[in-house]
Amino acid sequence: METQGAQPVPSGRTNPSTGVEEPIEIGHRATVPRDSRDTVGEPRLDDPRIRCTDVNVYYGDKRAVRDINLDVGRNEVLAMIGPSGCGKSTFLRCLNRMNDTIVGARVTGTIMMDDIDINSKQIDVVPLRAQVSMVFQKPNPFPKSVWENIAFGPRIHGLARNKAELNDIVEKSLLRAGLWDEVKDRLTEPGTGLSGGQQQRLCIARSIAVQPEVILMDEPCSALDPISTARIEELIDELRQHYSICIVTHSMQQAARVSQRTAYFHLGDLIEIGDTRQVFTSPRHQLTEDYITGRFG
Ligand SMILES: Nc1ncnc2c1ncn2[C@@H]1O[C@H](COP(=O)(O)OP(=O)(O)OP(=O)(O)O)[C@@H](O)[C@H]1O
Ligand SMILES: [Mg+2]
Repeated sequence: METQGAQPVPSGRTNPSTGVEEPIEIGHRATVPRDSRDTVGEPRLDDPRIRCTDVNVYYGDKRAVRDINLDVGRNEVLAMIGPSGCGKSTFLRCLNRMNDTIVGARVTGTIMMDDIDINSKQIDVVPLRAQVSMVFQKPNPFPKSVWENIAFGPRIHGLARNKAELNDIVEKSLLRAGLWDEVKDRLTEPGTGLSGGQQQRLCIARSIAVQPEVILMDEPCSALDPISTARIEELIDELRQHYSICIVTHSMQQAARVSQRTAYFHLGDLIEIGDTRQVFTSPRHQLTEDYITGRFG
């Protein structure tokens, strides 16, 4: 279990005169008591990209995620934070039906995208997982060339008619993932031969190549060094222009830097949701305050 200690959470803003990142100050004490499990804050948005209503996830008889109501906005980065085991990954996997792949997992509630419930039997999960793509904690390139890693998805989804169009998608995806300059002369080399940070950008390029609308990221930087992490964070900010991004992170500094809204989960409940700055500077729920001030890890 990772703790942040009582470190002040950086604001993501640099003081122009000192060049030092300013810490976030907790403005006032949270007032919603620790034993309350109702979500504090506004989970709904106008015109959301995804709308989750009363989502529960069970592993066998055990309910791991409880009655989640939450919208994912367009062109936003939504950070999901909370202690280990609180259900962040489980909830994230609901958004592209990845829990289907886990024996014994059962999802209830509705997850609406374009007026269709993605949990309905009619939905084909293959195109859904291209539309809502996922980047995992550990970079997992296919044991194929850099070029094949990107071209594979567009080819099976029929997004290109010929090799020239595939080349075009490969180049654009790598450019958008900030990797093109580093790999343009290595397209035929194995993707697994890249550095960890390059592999993670390759995986992001791979997820972009299938023209997603939403990108799910589960601790995408936890295996990366600070320089690669900074590169991915810049990339997340750029990608927001085109996509909705949901990112699970154990780093509150990262959540503060990259996201516009933050959702705090605790033991399967969505405890607080709000503007990232508000959640970090004036959390309203005592459990959120405990977590961000390092009293609970
Ligand atoms: N495949 C599974 N089978 C049974 N229980 C599971 C399974 N996956 C997760 N759980 C349980 O569901 C709960 C939520 O787990 P989840 O992995 O979603 O937490 P998390 O917030 O992502 O944690 P972490 O920060 O450690 O990644 C935990 O109690 C976990 O033990
Ligand atoms: Mg997890």
